Amino acid sequence: MADIRNNFVGIKSPNPFWLASAPPTDKAYNVERAFKAGWGGVVWKTLGEEGPPVVNVNGPRYGAIWGADRRLLGLNNIELITDRPLQVNLQEMKQVKMNWPDRALIASIMVPCNEESWKAILPLVEETGADGIELNFGCPHGMSERGMGSAVGQVPEYIEMVVRWCKQYTRMPVITKLTPNITDIRRPARAAHAGGTDAVSLINTINSITSVDLDSFSPEPSIGGKGSHGGYCGPAVKPIALNMVAEIARDPETHGLPISGIGGITTWRDAAEFMALGAGNVQVCTAAMTYGFKIVQEMIAGLKNWMDEKGHATLDDVIGRATPNVTDWKFLNLNYVAKARINQDLCIKCGRCHIACEDTSHQAITSMVDGVRHFEVMEDECVGCNLCVNVCPVQGCITMEPLAAGVIDQRTGQPVSPVYANWTTHPNNPMAPKVAAE
Ligand SMILES: Cc1cc2nc3c(=O)[nH]c(=O)nc-3n(C[C@H](O)[C@H](O)[C@H](O)COP(=O)(O)O)c2cc1C
Repeated sequence: MADIRNNFVGIKSPNPFWLASAPPTDKAYNVERAFKAGWGGVVWKTLGEEGPPVVNVNGPRYGAIWGADRRLLGLNNIELITDRPLQVNLQEMKQVKMNWPDRALIASIMVPCNEESWKAILPLVEETGADGIELNFGCPHGMSERGMGSAVGQVPEYIEMVVRWCKQYTRMPVITKLTPNITDIRRPARAAHAGGTDAVSLINTINSITSVDLDSFSPEPSIGGKGSHGGYCGPAVKPIALNMVAEIARDPETHGLPISGIGGITTWRDAAEFMALGAGNVQVCTAAMTYGFKIVQEMIAGLKNWMDEKGHATLDDVIGRATPNVTDWKFLNLNYVAKARINQDLCIKCGRCHIACEDTSHQAITSMVDGVRHFEVMEDECVGCNLCVNVCPVQGCITMEPLAAGVIDQRTGQPVSPVYANWTTHPNNPMAPKVAAE
């Protein structure tokens, strides 16, 4: 069977599934049960500096977005870092690490952006036997107003500076956790790399307001009639996170920098996608908060089964395999042609494909043929945009069929696509060498 043992910047774990820093990892009681359930590692809920612990709101701290079946798609939170005393967390971390030497235990840290604060906390954490530290430069609410979290993560110079301090004052591997609340994710990653980080992890949560109560006109979650933006996570953020992971993985300036992928991972397939795009392992929060710790068992079994089926012996056969296939738009092959096909046996004649195509696309799907409701793609009109596939309520009913360039449409006798005899030199190809005008 496939070997899914993970070695991330020298930190070993029996599988690549770590719990991200959040409520599931905020105390020994949780982490012990998470390890029993099979999690390969945890990033402990973010520690702050010694002193009075932070105080959370006493009302609702979550907002949410659901699918039509009430499945949780997006979660928004206004929680701060740990509100337990530092010493209690450190003692529990030490005990848990002793009990579970084969699992990864990472300390997430957020202290004020000055050298003394970082220098003071690092030996305390090191003493617990933790395998590494994760610098929380990502939390977008509450702590950022105090000059920490994403307030640091949005300034590449600060990132580089703090990473340097950490590399100077600890021997533990440093993972820099990035905020997605920034225009170009490559810049903080490059800064962390320049500071000497061993890895980056991403994404932390995205600034968000999930809803507004239309009776009280308060954003939700509402704390006595007022709300504040929170951090968004869960399945809804996965596409954003995947893109950011890929951006860093394919950036020549951070080439080879290990990445821990986070954001909406709910199934083994999500995890495999993150790893294929360059993540060396993954972290999970919302899925564990929604379905419980045992969800990792599905992830482990599913990943192993898929790897066995495909003949991938170890994670190294998967990690980064899709990265070279992420390219800029200008490199896409305009000679590639695919057209929609509707399987008449599966079609329930709801007409959604027709409406979508008629009103907003290319008027390429019939609605009536010979006075009868009939939905069929007119190949010569279809530009292959794929909208009908996405709005169709029946999975597999409409598929995209790749066609060889120049295939003749039976009805019109015309080619279904332009034929570019030699795409690499064709004038429509923006990358083709320019021919000097006569
Ligand atoms: C309630 C809650 C609290 C969180 N607290 C922290 C935290 O203390 N430190 C941190 O680095 N990330 C924190 N996060 C962010 C998660 O670690 C993770 O980056 C984010 O939720 C995206 O992953 P997901 O889509 O699997 O939830 C928190 C997330 C949630 C939902």
